[in-house]
Amino acid sequence: SIVWMNGAFIDRSEAKVDIEDRGYQFGDGIYEVIRVYNGQLFTANEHLERLLGSGDKLSIQIGYSVEEFKGLLEQLIEKNNLETGIVYMQVTRGVNSRNHAFPAEDTPPTYIAYTKEVARPTEQLDNGVTAITVEDIRWSRCDIKSLNLLGNVIAKQKATEADCYESIQYRDLTVTEGSSSNIWIIKDNAVKTHEANQFILNGITRQKIIELCQGNDIEVVEAAFTIEDLIDADEVFLSSTTAEVMPIISINNVPVGSGEIGPVARKLQQLFQDAIE
Ligand code: PDD
Repeated sequence: SIVWMNGAFIDRSEAKVDIEDRGYQFGDGIYEVIRVYNGQLFTANEHLERLLGSGDKLSIQIGYSVEEFKGLLEQLIEKNNLETGIVYMQVTRGVNSRNHAFPAEDTPPTYIAYTKEVARPTEQLDNGVTAITVEDIRWSRCDIKSLNLLGNVIAKQKATEADCYESIQYRDLTVTEGSSSNIWIIKDNAVKTHEANQFILNGITRQKIIELCQGNDIEVVEAAFTIEDLIDADEVFLSSTTAEVMPIISINNVPVGSGEIGPVARKLQQLFQDAIE
């Protein structure tokens, strides 16, 4: 396949990263996962603006604009004949002799983007998935989409070992988000998800779903909720670029609500599906 690296389209086998790249040594970098439906980027501006925002928060000097990145990613999709899948892209603080402090300002970032075929998870969207709850052990800047994903990796591994799809993380008594998704509850037809602060990643799918609620007379609240609220919810779902609106039908082996996928999740799935077509 063809990848884009540091300004050039090259064969994947030619793409090499230095052993002292700061992404490799420190996780000192940022990334995005963007959906491709029908050969077209979905919500590319939002993702690329978030990438530039993550760069700003970490003082990584990104030398491309949203428009430039978009043009490059469109070429990449075409070169790889991608129809349904994702683009993964990341930017690290570049290469220098190992030292925790930032390198000189003129050190160029390391850029990489590649495509991957990823089908829509239709079977899981239809039937729902299972989850467990785990303590959120991550740092307090989860708003930055950084390569430092150890807390997320450990959380996902716990879900996998429990034969579940996702881990729902909590900090003290508050539900924050999934290992790689945002978490939503529905009670008495009102939809709720954690407010966008430093304890969650403000998902692009999350923002899209809020917009869809607001445009369709579905009450939506951005506010923290407790584990008790989660257990007591009528419906629960998660959202992400790859998972879309994914119903959760059991948590810690206990059925959510009636144990069936609820009407609000179904409605949001339909609205989301309409938005991507
Ligand atoms: N994960 N929260 C976390 C911690 C995430 O890693 C993600 C996305 C989300 C949802 O964000 P969005 O709707 O913008 O995809 C929330 C991506 C897909 C990943 O790491 O693969």
